[in-house]
Amino acid sequence: LSGSYRKLQFDAPVGVFDSGVGGLTVLAALRHEMPQASFVYLGDTARLPYGTKSPETVVRYALRAAEALVERGIGLLVVACNTASAVALPSLRQRFGDLPVIGVVEPGAEAACASSASGRIAVLATEGTVRGKAYERAILARRPDAQVISVACPVFVALAEEGWHDNAVARAAALAYVAPLFADPRHRPAPDCVVLGCTHFPLLSGVIAEICGPSVARVDSAQTTARSVARLGEWRAAAAPRVHCLATDGIERFARVGARFLGAALDPRDVELVDL
Ligand code: DGL
Repeated sequence: LSGSYRKLQFDAPVGVFDSGVGGLTVLAALRHEMPQASFVYLGDTARLPYGTKSPETVVRYALRAAEALVERGIGLLVVACNTASAVALPSLRQRFGDLPVIGVVEPGAEAACASSASGRIAVLATEGTVRGKAYERAILARRPDAQVISVACPVFVALAEEGWHDNAVARAAALAYVAPLFADPRHRPAPDCVVLGCTHFPLLSGVIAEICGPSVARVDSAQTTARSVARLGEWRAAAAPRVHCLATDGIERFARVGARFLGAALDPRDVELVDL
């Protein structure tokens, strides 16, 4: 990744785009890695979920959201949404020319290859990400001997938004989605690495770990992406680093549910409603 762009000097804010609140897990990781940077975050809450939409629709939405962030003067775009990263990166890079556009799939794939000894890697993601096979391609490009098993886990998205990440319903969902990876004889030997390939899944990391057991690595694409972005450039310290949030619908819900993903309080008065 770091080879794709020359070492950049940033004083413009970093744009972060997601279908909704899930990408706030990526924003939290970015802020941790780059406390001196300012961010503009756009959650396209009017159009979510992206995970069940066709690639053409996701590309169209992603281009429009990215335009809105470019109009705000961003110096770099992080596509925090795994589904948009899986299907829209080439179109975004083509449209925005010199603007560095970083998705979450490549860093997640890189971390998965580094942490898997056997090369048997499971990817948990939305339907759209699984269908697009972007993780599979990115993993196989780095490690042609890898065997990638992808599982669409759409119910995890609703559970994370509901705050149900540590209860009986979350455990039942984790059992249904994840246990077959370890019980099904077709998947022998079982994977030794599980990629949390959706913005929402880091919140369910605990119940997923209960099913996988301690010897299976869990790769959080939010954290691996933040580390890759931090390595890309040198962020000039803004006098007062700022985070500005934009949402296309429901700023009260964005702030209430988003706080859980961000891991910090969010005031709806600090969220700007925008129309794309
Ligand atoms: N942000 C999406 C992702 O990471 C999950 C939510 C959605 O489907 O919009 O794939």
